[in-house]
Amino acid sequence: AVERTLSIIKPDAVAKNVIGEIYTRFEKAGLKVVAAKMKHLSKAEAEGFYAEHKERGFFADLVAFMTSGPVMVQVLEGENAVLANRDLMGATNPKEAAAGTIRADFAESIDANAVHGSDAVASAQREIGYFFAETEISAR
Ligand code: CMP
Repeated sequence: AVERTLSIIKPDAVAKNVIGEIYTRFEKAGLKVVAAKMKHLSKAEAEGFYAEHKERGFFADLVAFMTSGPVMVQVLEGENAVLANRDLMGATNPKEAAAGTIRADFAESIDANAVHGSDAVASAQREIGYFFAETEISAR
């Protein structure tokens, strides 16, 4: 089925100037960017986005990292978009990410891991709604 997923190019990858290289991977995999914005997240925005992780030991570091510089946030649309994007990203820990994935090629550590992608259709709906109004998403 055609799905939408929420993708974030994190501060490390924005700083490396590889937004375009990552967008090319989305496009080559048949995923369309149907909404996008660059944003420097506030602490409250990052905490709210990652609320499900707030009891985890890495939460404070995660929020500090995600607010350390601008991120590029986009909605991707395509056949099986949630899983397709997760395949493109590779494992959360770049040391475990398969060769040729975004994290293997651009990420340095489990914190600075280049990209975020929704893990399921339900979380994608929540995450898309966190950053975008329906009127900001283009049918294409
Ligand atoms: P992300 O997909 O954005 O979701 C939560 C983030 O927390 C994850 O990517 C990692 O960058 C970060 N993180 C740091 N430590 C861990 C960990 N032990 N397990 C999972 N995620 C972690």
